[in-house]
Amino acid sequence: SRSIDLAVIPGDGIGREVVAQGLKVLSAVLPQDVKLQTQEYDLGAKRWHATGETLPDAELERLKGHDAILLGAIGDPSVPSGVLERGLLLKLRFAFDHYVNLRPSKLFPNTETPLAGRPEIDFVVVREGTEGPYTGNGGSLRTGTPAEVATEVSVNTAYGVERVVRYAYEQAKARPRKRLTLVHKNNVLVHAGHLWKNIFDRVGEEYPEVTTDYLHVDAATIFFVTRPERFDVIVTDNLFGDILTDLAAAVTGGIGLAASGNINPTGAFPSMFEPVHGSAPDIAGTGKADPTATILSVALMLRHLGLESEATRIEDAVSADLAERSAPRTTDEIGDALAARVAG
Ligand code: IPM
Ligand code: MN
Repeated sequence: SRSIDLAVIPGDGIGREVVAQGLKVLSAVLPQDVKLQTQEYDLGAKRWHATGETLPDAELERLKGHDAILLGAIGDPSVPSGVLERGLLLKLRFAFDHYVNLRPSKLFPNTETPLAGRPEIDFVVVREGTEGPYTGNGGSLRTGTPAEVATEVSVNTAYGVERVVRYAYEQAKARPRKRLTLVHKNNVLVHAGHLWKNIFDRVGEEYPEVTTDYLHVDAATIFFVTRPERFDVIVTDNLFGDILTDLAAAVTGGIGLAASGNINPTGAFPSMFEPVHGSAPDIAGTGKADPTATILSVALMLRHLGLESEATRIEDAVSADLAERSAPRTTDEIGDALAARVAG
């Protein structure tokens, strides 16, 4: 019989609350013959305050043995900016070679969008996850003086770009519209930009059925607001993908619905699924956090693990639930409602 050995990192703020609902829906959707085993990891602000550790190597080693990781949120105002982000979240993405950061955006029924005319939005951003300006390749000189100079070098390798571009073509090929847009800024970032564009064009020759185009990132932000329905699959670098997917969430019902998967498609390391949102310390403990983004991340995880029909069941349940959601509900109530739907 099948089994899932899942690592759970609740993390900080609302992380614990939303992860609890994700696990509730996961248990409800799994067929009897799939054994679920979870192990919780105590990582985040509390651990850092207590021990000074963010992600010890021994923990990383243990995490490696799981089939997948479910993560709530990382970050707390009591910890200097960057310590947990770099030392924990990005360390996991880099160590486990999560070169695909998959971020679907869909405008669900009965959700708010600031966009006029409620366009049909259903696209997926394939954000590169292990390179770009996120590698920590930079430094500062004469720090704190008026002559300070700081650099943050974007690292782009042919190997790294080709593998994520190829993944994006595969995604596009599998979707009905078969459209792929490369987003970069090759009129200014000419070195990285042309590396991306050249590889995008070359790999594209192997996918004649996929229609492609290219947008500068600034123009892409306009189209996200004026014509989001034009997008199907988007491939872009780590930082552009970070910014674009927050914008995508804002126009599709808010960050409370945005799911993501940090994926290592080779299976050499466990992939990690997390809501796009952060730890929201201002609403932690109030029951106001929407667990839907985490629950949709669980769906992405199930799809990655080959449980396609269970993934679809969760997504359909979210659709149906949102269509009927009117009065505000608590974190727990939303989790209960979705668990009931996927079970029934
Ligand atoms: C995200 C977050 C992270 C990122 C931060 C917390 C490091 O904004 O997952 O989008 O920039 O990737
Ligand atoms: Mn972000």
